[in-house]
Amino acid sequence: MKRKLIILTDPGQDQAAAILMILGAPDRFDVLGLVATAGNIDLGHTTDNCLKLLELAERTDIKVYAGCPRPMAGALVTAEHVHGPTGLDGPDLPDVTTRIAPEHGVDFIIRTLREAPAGDITICSLSPLTNLAMAMVMAPDIVSRIGEIVAMAGAYFEVGNITPTAEFNVYVDPEAAKIVLDAEIPITILPLDVTHQMLSTPERLAQMRKIGNRCGVATAEMLEFSQAFDLQKYGWKGAPLHGPCVPAYMLQPDIFQGRKINVSVETAGALTRGMTIADWWQISDRKKNAFYVRNGDAEAYYGLLLECLARLP
Ligand code: RIB
Repeated sequence: MKRKLIILTDPGQDQAAAILMILGAPDRFDVLGLVATAGNIDLGHTTDNCLKLLELAERTDIKVYAGCPRPMAGALVTAEHVHGPTGLDGPDLPDVTTRIAPEHGVDFIIRTLREAPAGDITICSLSPLTNLAMAMVMAPDIVSRIGEIVAMAGAYFEVGNITPTAEFNVYVDPEAAKIVLDAEIPITILPLDVTHQMLSTPERLAQMRKIGNRCGVATAEMLEFSQAFDLQKYGWKGAPLHGPCVPAYMLQPDIFQGRKINVSVETAGALTRGMTIADWWQISDRKKNAFYVRNGDAEAYYGLLLECLARLP
């Protein structure tokens, strides 16, 4: 049975790899649409980047919807310093031959959840949660219709990446993350604690190139561009590959380990806004609202990614 996905994304090279991984598993995923989020780069670029990726993978049958141009509160924080001025720097991507759908991304989320049988749809969140939270505020009836959320979000043991305490996706829109986590929807979180174990070493990038198809080569070129900042910052043998942890978990959950705990979001702290507090040792009496993934098998992860990329053009 294919998993029906609404993908929330602000590509971003790592998220591009995640989207291509999903498209490389058409027997497992039915992509209902991409909702472009303002995040790594402004909304204009993230919508363009979604269209470019679908062109690259020859999947222009999938529609792209533009979401909100900024988070629920405060100004947009972007990450050109990691992803480049377009957000998808690295390869020459094919010219876009399609346009975004006219429907607003938030309206698309609401309509699609209302039209599908309750529980049928998984929200695959690679980005800040702005558009999902906005949909939940605008149409509370959809909350109980969401089957599951699988999200790259947050950090605890690995601390923050955009501030000393906050992971980027949550930092961009902490209010949205709080709304989603407080809603008691089944949610699996892939935080920096696990994505930092998934390093795109030169050997792994070479394996992507060796696939030889244009999606494999483009993915290697994208990650070779975006890795520069993290290699400099962390001094590791490869840059962490965040986004594909989401499809990898959906494809093969047994290569990951975690536990059901409380995850709360700080929205007010002067130094800690956007921090996710993962009650790993279950010290508080706060409700266990999320399956929090702490570890994963990197070899199996990259094997899955290569397998999916190899099925693409
Ligand atoms: O913190 C990592 C996440 O933030 C990744 O999804 C990256 O694309 C940025 O959005």
